[in-house]
Amino acid sequence: MRSGPLQEGEPVLLIDRKDRRYLLVLRAGAVADLRGGKLLHDDLISTSEGRPVRTTRGETFLMVRATLAEFVLEMPRGAQIIYPKDLSAILLGADIYPGAAVLEAGTGSGALTMTLLRAVGPQGRVFSYEVREAFGRLAAQNISRYLGSSDQLVMRAQDIYESIPDHDLDRIVLDVPEPWRVVPHAVQALRLGGILLSYVPTVPQAVRTVELLRQSGAFAMIETFETLVRPWNIEGASVRPAHRMVAHTAFITTARRVEQRTGEQRTVN
Ligand SMILES: C[S@@+](CC[C@H](N)C(=O)[O-])C[C@H]1O[C@@H](n2cnc3c(N)ncnc32)[C@H](O)[C@@H]1O
Repeated sequence: MRSGPLQEGEPVLLIDRKDRRYLLVLRAGAVADLRGGKLLHDDLISTSEGRPVRTTRGETFLMVRATLAEFVLEMPRGAQIIYPKDLSAILLGADIYPGAAVLEAGTGSGALTMTLLRAVGPQGRVFSYEVREAFGRLAAQNISRYLGSSDQLVMRAQDIYESIPDHDLDRIVLDVPEPWRVVPHAVQALRLGGILLSYVPTVPQAVRTVELLRQSGAFAMIETFETLVRPWNIEGASVRPAHRMVAHTAFITTARRVEQRTGEQRTVN
């Protein structure tokens, strides 16, 4: 549920007067310990978000449902997550749409998986590949905490450099260290007109990916960009950019799967 009274299993944020945030997943019978004060989950379940709650020490916290961006920043991590600024760019960069069949690798902590699941909706599918079992398990827990059970998700313990057993995919989104090794499999698994998106932190990785996409002759409209989001402080006379920002995260490359070209045609983007 994303509206109405809060239900068991929902993640909520409790925010103190210094803007410190605490994530709780509501569980019947559970007790939260917040800065030395107790809060009974039963007193929160079935109530409304957007209001203050008080601990046994008398400290007041604002309680709201955690948005997806807030949840991914606070949830347990195995692998480094993709930050919200990039998650939103990936959704439009790869043109993820309701009903799409999307392959993702690797699952990591599940931040991108959740973002894709919400975007493809009940008619879509997300095939998520991960080589490390422990990461797959942690991601599954994070995903079910935020989205509940999902029939749209297929998790595969699969090395994507070896092969892609899924076919007729609309989109492939890669957050693995050597995405260029996936290109030959992506040529087979992605439908014509489909989009491949790769997310890598360094320039050599981005360059190699673009080169291999080009050499394959099966991709066109290859573009690379990064996102910079600069938060602002607006408080009275203090109107200025925030002192800190998440600066560099990664380079995002997108490419369209097209009929395979040969010879000199391959020099065309
Ligand atoms: C940076 S993390 C992904 C984070 C994820 N996108 C998120 O937002 O939470 C990269 C993941 O790719 C996995 N991985 C690396 N090589 C892989 C491969 N060949 N096939 C499948 N998964 C792979 C790693 O184990 C790791 O969990």
